Amino acid sequence: MKILFYDTKSYDKESFEKKRNEYPEIQIDYLKSELAPGTAQLARGYDGVCAFVSCDVGTETVKILHECGVKLILMRCAGFNNVDISRAGEFGMKVMRVPGYSPEAVAEHAMALALAVNRRINKAYVRVRENDFSLSGMLGFNFHHKTAGIVGTGKIGAAMARICRGFGMKVIAYDMYQNPDLDFVTYVKLDELLGRSDLISLHCPLMDETYHLINQETIHKMKDGVILVNTSRGGLVKTEDLIEGIRERKFFAVGLDVYEEEKKNVFEDRSDDIMESSVTARLLSFPNVIITSHQGFFTQEALEAISETTLNNARAFLNGEKTGNEVE
Ligand code: NAI
Repeated sequence: MKILFYDTKSYDKESFEKKRNEYPEIQIDYLKSELAPGTAQLARGYDGVCAFVSCDVGTETVKILHECGVKLILMRCAGFNNVDISRAGEFGMKVMRVPGYSPEAVAEHAMALALAVNRRINKAYVRVRENDFSLSGMLGFNFHHKTAGIVGTGKIGAAMARICRGFGMKVIAYDMYQNPDLDFVTYVKLDELLGRSDLISLHCPLMDETYHLINQETIHKMKDGVILVNTSRGGLVKTEDLIEGIRERKFFAVGLDVYEEEKKNVFEDRSDDIMESSVTARLLSFPNVIITSHQGFFTQEALEAISETTLNNARAFLNGEKTGNEVE
């Protein structure tokens, strides 16, 4: 079975090649380009493609892949909002993903962002390097005895809830389904969560219902001085409204691993580019905002789990078996 691997970074190739001798039936060719309408034709002659969150696997790409004879789209990530699932289904193409590679990796990054923005670690790092040991502008607040509001208590949200409990926080959550493992969490309506939380962490998927879940109206319902962390998907937050909220001093701090404009940036070195009209640059101009580049997943354990599950998905497809990782 031949797989064309798009958007390859050195760490991807390393983690897949480490496992690949256990899967002799699978041949992988690695490409640096992202999967998009302009590059989909390169997959002619391949049985499957392997893509990541920043690839464009929309209607046009899926159509070209189908014309090229591709039968399998292996997403080496959990989210699949960048894939036209229904069109793939119409063409009889299978889409598979890695539903949960390391929830702790993302949850620990969410807490890292929350702590860093709270205690202004980004500013402190730069200041001390310049021999400036002053503390003005660095004042944070204790998480202990404060309230954490978790939106979406699936695998990652549950891990974040446990971390927050470990910090001695009261944990409340909003989800349509209550996670039975989280007996220390109180489920509340979204409005109540917004009004009571000192730290809000987003862990629900991006869907029509959750698009711009955080907007002017929901921001106004939040407690003054709240910390907002988003490690889920950029589209959950309406960036213009977030910027407005930051200007109105609604937020104590904001930590973003994902944001609406990230597509061009994700995993690229753009340090030589002149940003013409960049929402990212505007967000970065605020002293109480930290942005990381969709790196919540980026731990050794997660990369290992991603390569293993993706190769298992390819093998299951080849053998006509179901894994539960199919997206339909
Ligand atoms: P999951 O499927 O285990 O959990 C999602 C939870 O959200 C479920 O409990 C579901 O009931 C809930 N939910 C669905 N709609 C909701 C709504 N309207 N309001 C509140 N809750 C809702 O997913 P998992 O593994 O916990 O991942 C969560 C998200 O994290 C993914 O969708 C993905 O976008 C993001 N992610 C980010 C990564 C990063 O590197 N920053 C890496 C991996 C995932």
